Amino acid sequence: MTAKIIKAVIPVAGLGTRMLPATKAIPKELLPVYDRPIIEHVVKEAIAGGITEIILVTRSGKEAIENHFDAHYELEHRLENKGKEKILGTVKNIIPEYVKITSIRQADALGLGHAVLCAKHLLNNEPFAVLLPDVLVLDSESRDRNYSFAQLVEAWNTTETGQVMVERVDLEIIDNYGVANLDGLESKLFESVPLKGLVEKPSSEEAPSNLALLGRYVLPPKVLDFLENTKPGVGGEIQLTDALDKLLKLDGLNALETDAEIHDCGNKYGYLSANLALGMRDPETLTAITKILNKKSW
Ligand code: G1P
Repeated sequence: MTAKIIKAVIPVAGLGTRMLPATKAIPKELLPVYDRPIIEHVVKEAIAGGITEIILVTRSGKEAIENHFDAHYELEHRLENKGKEKILGTVKNIIPEYVKITSIRQADALGLGHAVLCAKHLLNNEPFAVLLPDVLVLDSESRDRNYSFAQLVEAWNTTETGQVMVERVDLEIIDNYGVANLDGLESKLFESVPLKGLVEKPSSEEAPSNLALLGRYVLPPKVLDFLENTKPGVGGEIQLTDALDKLLKLDGLNALETDAEIHDCGNKYGYLSANLALGMRDPETLTAITKILNKKSW
């Protein structure tokens, strides 16, 4: 029987340089997207896919991320006394009690592959998920469900093969991403297809396709062995993509194209669009936002 995916690694040790100065004193993962920090959206996405153990790979100075998921008794007590039940509901028990969050440190910024490897001793030779917290994956239709990550887990369950979520992006920006090589095979939405290769941040001329890895993975534990032997790649960092490329040549790896709405909150444009998208999905703020957007001049 296929091992269930219950663990997710969320690397949060990045310095957030693309979002400076906003991220000088605040972890980028705690910047709010609409009404809550981006990390809360991502953790909830993981839980919706069946994850019960979250491993945050963090660094010094980012303790506030852990605090966000912890109880804040004084605040809860005050809100309770003032009868502010609605707000209380948003700060108390943010995640269900059965979900455990553990954090470990990545002392040196050696890359995404290295961050994932830091969690090896907690992964117990089990398959696991990786969710990158810069990226907000929104359901293309509904504010109240988010099925893309759950679908990735489902694809693992049926194929017993590692999965990466991909989306089509403009070739001009392909050099920001890990890119899928399907060897000319046409990918279809929601279909898990075998990969021929992966390449990290290729130029638009060298990119094997415009299918970009968007930061959602379900992986077998064997990838950790490959990571241990992966030399620094693009940017002098140990790249998860490079280890996955080796893994897929031996054991296979599939890509699943999503129709989800993707916002890369690690840059100002994506961050703004994520805020607008979620704001416009809430009937309470939709009218106000539409009014602002329709204003003739600024
Ligand atoms: C990372 C990965 C890359 C992936 C991207 C998604 O890059 O290395 O393969 O496509 O996230 O956002 P980063 O954005 O950390 O440079």
